[in-house]
Amino acid sequence: MRLIPNPKQLKMGQGYCSCNGFELFVTKNFKDDTTNLVDYLSELFGDTKDSDNAVKIVAEYNPDLDIEEYKLSVEEKSITITSSTSAGFFYALQTLRQSMYKDESGEFQIPLMVVNDAPRFEWRGLHIDVCRHFFSIDFIKKQLDLMAMYKLNKFHWHLTEDQGWRIEIKKYPLLTSKSAWRTEKDGTQYGGFYTQEEIKEVVAYAGKLQIEVIPEIELPGHALAALASYPQYSCIGGPFEVIDVWGVTEDVYCAGKDDTFDFLNDIISEVCELFPSKYFHIGGDGCPKTRWHECPDCQNRMKTEGLADEKELQSWFIRQIEKTLIVNGKTLIGWDEILEGGLADSAIVMSWQGIEGGIQAVKQGNKAIMTPWANMYFDKRPYPEDTKVDLPILTWEDVYNYEPIPAGLSAEEAKLIMGAQANIWTEHIYTEEEFQYMLIPRIFPLAEILWTTPENKDIESFRWLLKRHMEYLIRRGYNFAHYREEILNK
Ligand code: ACM
Ligand code: ZN
Repeated sequence: MRLIPNPKQLKMGQGYCSCNGFELFVTKNFKDDTTNLVDYLSELFGDTKDSDNAVKIVAEYNPDLDIEEYKLSVEEKSITITSSTSAGFFYALQTLRQSMYKDESGEFQIPLMVVNDAPRFEWRGLHIDVCRHFFSIDFIKKQLDLMAMYKLNKFHWHLTEDQGWRIEIKKYPLLTSKSAWRTEKDGTQYGGFYTQEEIKEVVAYAGKLQIEVIPEIELPGHALAALASYPQYSCIGGPFEVIDVWGVTEDVYCAGKDDTFDFLNDIISEVCELFPSKYFHIGGDGCPKTRWHECPDCQNRMKTEGLADEKELQSWFIRQIEKTLIVNGKTLIGWDEILEGGLADSAIVMSWQGIEGGIQAVKQGNKAIMTPWANMYFDKRPYPEDTKVDLPILTWEDVYNYEPIPAGLSAEEAKLIMGAQANIWTEHIYTEEEFQYMLIPRIFPLAEILWTTPENKDIESFRWLLKRHMEYLIRRGYNFAHYREEILNK
């Protein structure tokens, strides 16, 4: 099976390495914890206690390789993996995973090959909204497995919204006892949240898969669930409900009250403790200025801080949060609205409304991550035949044809584009099966545009690959095909 994503260089040999187990030899100077390497191999080869035909696997340390780069050489009696970190080693094993199969006698057959490989981008992301609809940690882990198989490395976890707050904060228990629940139109309660222990479990699980988890705590907008419990941090004081309709709401955090920032700083400090990632996403999108315009506290803030309008007040708000994040050792990421009224110095812009936000950011010397609505929004329908809800179509070809580096950037500016990310918003995704239908097969072209250099891309050969990789995932228990058939045969 041709690999997804296509590696930088691959030379196939003649014949196979046959084995039913492994024996690991690690060169002495290998820097990372080698128990990880054994765990990775055990996961790949399964139970090999009774192995009588173990292949020798040599893990060779080479500090000259980049952190995610690897070299892999499969010979008849041995496999050599060269890397500078366990990440490189891990990606070599993902390449093996897609290449090997078990024959009728139960032996693994691994084609002889030599691979030199490294990713094109450092940010290869997937965003999941667990607020509009909630997903269990087992389901999240399963998506992380899938990301890892296709060498994606950043999981952006959208944890707070108008429609639900999904992360336990010890200091503010109402955020989960009340803000995590909404009343649906039929009168039932809908919701859920993750305890801090569950969050830690997911972060550790992702870490083993070389995936960094970036939390998103939305501010100053999309905060109605929090304000339903703590209305004193709004402009008008409430009362508010956690809502069950989609869109943007006028009630947001008040920028004029100092208490708002104490509240947010407390939350941010707790969240920072749970996520080792150096990045922290603060949202920043969908913040109407109506309440701020009428609020005496907000107007007073604008006067004392010398701010010309509410856009500058938004920028000031984000800069306050940036300070807190810097104290916590984190780098701020925000949706492209954080450009309005002036961008915080250290902020990374996630360009979603188009590519312009990303271009504007890198022209100011800031970094950017590309998630344009046109090509990277996986909540759009994947097939033209799918008319279930009235949403635009985004085919796998649209994803494959997307080039993350905007045309016309200088080489210096292009270097500030960290990569790209697909966003899955879940307003119209109710079930796990439907979620997987949105992700598979579009995750394949996503992986390829982020790892593979443009000269190694070829859409025609990719076309026949999709089916094979979809079948492979069905065998591994990813449940999307039934849903897909239903839609397409309707
Ligand atoms: C967004 O889609 N509002 C980031
Ligand atoms: Zn206010």
